[in-house]
Order: sequence, then C-alpha cells, then structure tokens
Amino acid sequence: MRTIWVERPLGDVFIIDQTQLPRELVQAKIATVDEMAHAIRSMQVRGAPLIGVAAAYGMALAARTAPSDASLLAAEALLRATRPTAVNLAWALSESSRAWRDQPMEQRAARLYQLAADLADADVSACRTIAEHGAPLLLAHKREGRALNILTHCNAGWLATVDWGTALAPIFELHARGVQLHVWVDETRPRNQGLLTAWELTQAGIPCTLIVDNAGGLLMRRGLVDACIVGSDRTVRNGDVCNKVGTYLKALAARDCGLPFYVALPWSTVDLSIESGDDIPIEERAGSEVSELPFVTVANPAFDVTPARLVTRLITERGSFSPEELSSL
Ligand code: MRU
Repeated sequence: MRTIWVERPLGDVFIIDQTQLPRELVQAKIATVDEMAHAIRSMQVRGAPLIGVAAAYGMALAARTAPSDASLLAAEALLRATRPTAVNLAWALSESSRAWRDQPMEQRAARLYQLAADLADADVSACRTIAEHGAPLLLAHKREGRALNILTHCNAGWLATVDWGTALAPIFELHARGVQLHVWVDETRPRNQGLLTAWELTQAGIPCTLIVDNAGGLLMRRGLVDACIVGSDRTVRNGDVCNKVGTYLKALAARDCGLPFYVALPWSTVDLSIESGDDIPIEERAGSEVSELPFVTVANPAFDVTPARLVTRLITERGSFSPEELSSL
C-alpha cells in the first residue's frame, strides 16, 4: 500500500496514521486543509517526501472547499507553517501555487488534485530509482561470509515517502536480490521513528536489531557495521545534509571508524537556494516530547546538520554524487 491516496476524483484524502504504528496499522481520513495541517504537525504523516505530497493534497482539499485566491493563499500559509525543516514541503507548496494561479476558479480543485497525484507518482518513481543506484554502492561493502551490516537513523523507509523510501530503498532492493543483510536501527529519540523502521524491515523479512541512539559508535568500533545510510530533510548547495537529530554524531563515528556514510534523497529534498547547512531552519519541537517532568527544562531540536566532508556519497534518482559535486549541478 501507499502512505497517502484518494479513492475517487476530488475525494477525501486517506493516510496511514503513523502515530498509531507500530502497534496498529490505522488509516485516517483527511477532509479539510485544517485536518491536513494537523496531520503534518502532529506527525500522523511524517518524513520529508511524504509531508511534501501531503501538503499538495492539503492545497487540493482547500480548493475543493473554497477555490478563491484568498482561501488558497491562507491554506498555503497554514501548511507552510506546519514544519519548517524539510524543504519538500515548501517545494510542493510552490509547485501547487504555480499550478492554481493560472486556472479559472472552477478548475483549480481538479488541477491541484492532479498535481498532488503527479507528485506522489514522481516520488515513487524517484525512490524506486534510488533503490537501483544505492544497492551496488552498499553491496560493495559486504564482507565475505557474513551478512552486510547496515546502520540507519530515523525512518527513511516507505512510511516516510509515498512508497519504497529513500535510505531503506536500496536495502529492500538488495533483499529482493537475495543478499544477506542485517540492519542496526537507531531508536531515534524522542519520537522513536526507529520503531517504524524496525516494523518496515520486519514486515519485509529483513533481519534487524533496534539499538539505543548512542550504541552505534560502539558497534562501529567493534567492526559490526559495514556502512551507514540515512535520509535527508534538506541538502544544500555546499553538500551539507540536514536530517533527524543524531545523524551528525553517527557520521562523526563513521568517519572515525573509516566507514562509509551514505545519504539517500530524492531531488525534491535538494535546496540549491541555500549555500550552507548553517542557514537551514531547524525545527524546535515541544519539550513534552522529551520529558513531562515539571522541574526539567527541555530543548528539543528535531534535526541537525552533517557537514558535507563527512558524507561519502549522495544517492539520488539522478545518480550518486560526492556532496561537493552538488554545487556544480
Ligand atoms: O521528524 P520526521 O520523522 O519527519 O523526520 C524524518 C527524517 O528525518 C527522515 O530521515 C527524512 O525525512 C528522510 S525520509 C525519506
């Protein structure tokens, strides 16, 4: 199944409510732009590529109810404010804006539904191609006589996209080709996206082990990791990669241990308008996600930036690049 879909022309939008996973696979119906904004903010839908497509469907829902300029501009502002870091969301809203502006009012909803469906299909196709580009890169690190051991952080699987995933796509591909694999899955405090990754891998029959976020360094030093691969929420001109908080520390450990650190991302995650990772807005989420003890002061930055120099290769649907090559593209 896909993570987001409609069942009839101009119909309600259906999502998998990721806040219920991995205990229960529950669908939720989204009927208005307000409900879509809530779904994105509360992380019922999450992951950079998926929130981009969800935002595009949010615009379609807004146009279904009220297609005026004022209504659509308000819908865009509402959706844009939901989550600041993943550029896919802003990108999808810009695409939507271009799509409705030159349309007569009575055609705007149909146009925006079509655009959202096109963005969803394009994401599936990009992730499918990332699987093909990434599989041989990972396979090159397999040691004779044992499973290929891969470490990943957060959830960059099919739940974070429309289908397939980014970082997990090459892993699914290698598994389909019969390669013996094992994945170390970072728990990913505080939202525990690692449970989503472990659920996806288990569903697919891929052996995996859930670890606390700080265990990766030890495992790398012990020679139990062959390669790391993560997704991205925004990758900028100088090749710096923004991803779920904790990614940077994994990249540092990988470099210290001489291990490759790959980042898989669709082109919709690339932001060439920003020069350096230092200028990426980092989402600060509620402290209650970390602790509800009344006497504790909490900071909860949701993402961090891994400098380009720690990234071995960026894997995209257009091929794989060294991070330094991005600026020349
Ligand atoms: O806060 P989230 O769960 O939306 O963060 C998701 C991530 O950081 C993923 O690693 C990233 O979006 C890449 S997903 C294909």
